[in-house]
Amino acid sequence: MFSIMPSASRRMLVLLLLCLGIAPYASAQTSRTIADFDKGWKFHLGDVKGAEKASAPDKNWRLLNLPHDWSIEGTFSKDNPASPEGGALPGGIGWYRKTFTVPLASKGKQVYIDFDGVYQHSDVWVNGHHLGFRPNGYISFRYELTKYLNYGGVNVIAVKVNNSEQPNSRWYSGSGIYRNVWLVTTNPVAIDHWGTYVTTPELGIKSAGVVVKTTVRNSQSTAKPYTVRTKIFDADNKLVAVGGSIPSKAQLSDSAVSFENTLPVYAPRLWSVESPYLYKVVTEVLIDKKVVDTYTTPLGIRTFEFDADKGFILNGKSLKILGVCDHHDLGSLGAAINTRALERQLQILKGMGVNGIRTSHNPPAPELLDLCDKMGFIVMDEAFDMWKMKKTKYDYHQFWDEWHKRDLQDQILRDRNHPSVFIWSIGNEIGEQYSRTDTVGRVIARELAGIVRSLDNRPITAANNDPEPASNIIASGALDIIGYNYHHQDYESFHKRYPGKKFISTESTSALETRGSYDMPSDSIRRWPISWDKPFTTGNKDNSVSAYDNVSAPWGSTHEETWKVVKKNPMLSGMYIWTGFDYLGEPTPYSWPSRSSYFGVIDLAGFPKDVYYMYQSEWTNKTVLHIFPHWNWEAGKTVDVWAYYNNADEVELYLNGKSIGIKKKTGDDLHVMWRLKYEPGTLKAVSRKNGKVVLTKVINTAGAPAKIELIADRSNIKADGKDLSFITIRILDKNGNVVPNADNLVKFKISGAASIASVDNGDPVSHAPFKADYRKAFHGLALAIVQGKEQAGTITFTATSEGLAPATVVIRSK
Ligand code: GAL
Repeated sequence: MFSIMPSASRRMLVLLLLCLGIAPYASAQTSRTIADFDKGWKFHLGDVKGAEKASAPDKNWRLLNLPHDWSIEGTFSKDNPASPEGGALPGGIGWYRKTFTVPLASKGKQVYIDFDGVYQHSDVWVNGHHLGFRPNGYISFRYELTKYLNYGGVNVIAVKVNNSEQPNSRWYSGSGIYRNVWLVTTNPVAIDHWGTYVTTPELGIKSAGVVVKTTVRNSQSTAKPYTVRTKIFDADNKLVAVGGSIPSKAQLSDSAVSFENTLPVYAPRLWSVESPYLYKVVTEVLIDKKVVDTYTTPLGIRTFEFDADKGFILNGKSLKILGVCDHHDLGSLGAAINTRALERQLQILKGMGVNGIRTSHNPPAPELLDLCDKMGFIVMDEAFDMWKMKKTKYDYHQFWDEWHKRDLQDQILRDRNHPSVFIWSIGNEIGEQYSRTDTVGRVIARELAGIVRSLDNRPITAANNDPEPASNIIASGALDIIGYNYHHQDYESFHKRYPGKKFISTESTSALETRGSYDMPSDSIRRWPISWDKPFTTGNKDNSVSAYDNVSAPWGSTHEETWKVVKKNPMLSGMYIWTGFDYLGEPTPYSWPSRSSYFGVIDLAGFPKDVYYMYQSEWTNKTVLHIFPHWNWEAGKTVDVWAYYNNADEVELYLNGKSIGIKKKTGDDLHVMWRLKYEPGTLKAVSRKNGKVVLTKVINTAGAPAKIELIADRSNIKADGKDLSFITIRILDKNGNVVPNADNLVKFKISGAASIASVDNGDPVSHAPFKADYRKAFHGLALAIVQGKEQAGTITFTATSEGLAPATVVIRSK
């Protein structure tokens, strides 16, 4: 344990640093380059013989920038082999080629290409030389290019992506080089790939002992002795700790050697979900006192534990994990990763009070974890949706034997420095759980847990939908935390089955809603479909699902049902709702013509459904009063009005000035409801505390659509060719009320240095293309995503629709 550093010692540290010649971080010399390799690729959809050859003609191929997902550009059809479960979009084979030059000055250096993710079955060649095959569509991987490059000349990378064997996924996968690609150049002696491991095993109030393990690779035949130096900077880039240099003898060629350093950080600021304070660890390799490599690793200092009785404890305080599961697609942008689109998703989730993300059911884009580090989320980082036993005909089970060890190791090595990662999940609803006679699942569970433990000591769970003690994964004894998917009825009796064990709800709820759709009555619960393995024929004709929180899959629950249980039981460390956002594919309870899910608390376009505000009223300190549905019905219809509220004792509802009554939540109620006969006019709700008005909400009967309103989430974007502005299109009547059932076709025009990346409206049944300059509104709303180019300037976005007053919004790109 370290103690607070007295000021005399601080002065000593400063002197020591000056003697060591340590410059402030900003001016640190760097000799590693990590170049964005996304620009200027040629793409061809379909197989091409010989396209791997450097000389293969690609003049007529399409020029594009990565990340790229070709499936999202396709046409929805029930006949696409992915099926509606996989999003009903085409797969196939695609080729990418990129011609690039490498400066002569790079000769003698090490050059690597890093792919963050390619879906899937990728083969990569450089200058006609095959570098490797990687079947897993979610894993990050690197190839070394050094010895195949023309230095000072032209080089060609060719990538074949084969997503033709389908179905291979239970949700929309996307196809292509859908994550970022980097060209990394280092000196021959450099920190290895994923070559640091930072932990804080000793943490007191006064100081933290930061242990930094560094692996240095020597790739040259003659090696000089080098030293490794480690510095820690705080969030303001102030140097707070430096590790003594470690002298090294000359290291054998092409070998890796690991070093360990412990550095004290005095009076550490802790990482938490409210205040995710980040330090950074900068590791340098020096030869002859010259820095030859610099490598940065994020650092968040925090303690946590899972307790069998008290649940999850972060930095000594109990914290309920209020999480969501999400798949990797970004709605209408498809699988093509975009940092701003991810950030927007996380911001919307933070607004609801979410503090946890489960990366169902695969390793995520690295940018997601960077954002979770910065924004404060408790991540459950998941590895697999299946092991040896398949879930779909062509899925990863085919590659299990050969690849699972490597893939799991790579995931842990890549992700273990993220302070946001708290739990590893070795699998979701794995087929090997169930058999009571074949116990291979136990063997695999132990093997996987062993792989994880050899690289990291965070707790391991698995998302089990067989909660019995005889379930193979649970019975394997490999899990630190027992995870259930669903079975909320069994949570309270967990300790009867598993005395002294720790618990987490790895996946919960699976409630269903279409934003803006309401069926009466609202107070009876429907389990749709009737059974998971039978066709569902008794739903709504338009494939909608009512957005009162009263419909769920039979294996799940409504949002309120599960939250009520988790809320009151401290041993339940937390829950991950299925799902935060709607995603492409898995259109339960329906199938075609539906093509995307109904599970989200937020729809595919990013518009919250009503239940978002139930969570906001429970999970945040924000004062909430949310009433629904809309107020446009047939005269005389009996309509249920719900209110979610907090920070108040009661809510009174008025229709056209007349009180309909005061309602109060009692017991474990999470909403109040009034049943009334519809008459057009104004519905008003007033929440009060101790007789004083807290909030007032009004919904008016909307008239005919009259005008368009545009709301850009950001009117200033970066001119980096990647940044986005999300523009919400609202159809209003002449008085400014949103018209709840408006489905007007809206056309878009854009001028300036930007394009429309995609459009959507959140309708799970629409087959209109996402790459378009038009969209119908759905329940009054639509979305256009504007992407800036690399030029600064003014972007003007205009929306028009027949019979409506148009609207324009101006965005500045800087
Ligand atoms: C779970 C499964 C998820 C999703 C969900 C739908 O059983 O883990 O991937 O399929 O059901 O309710």
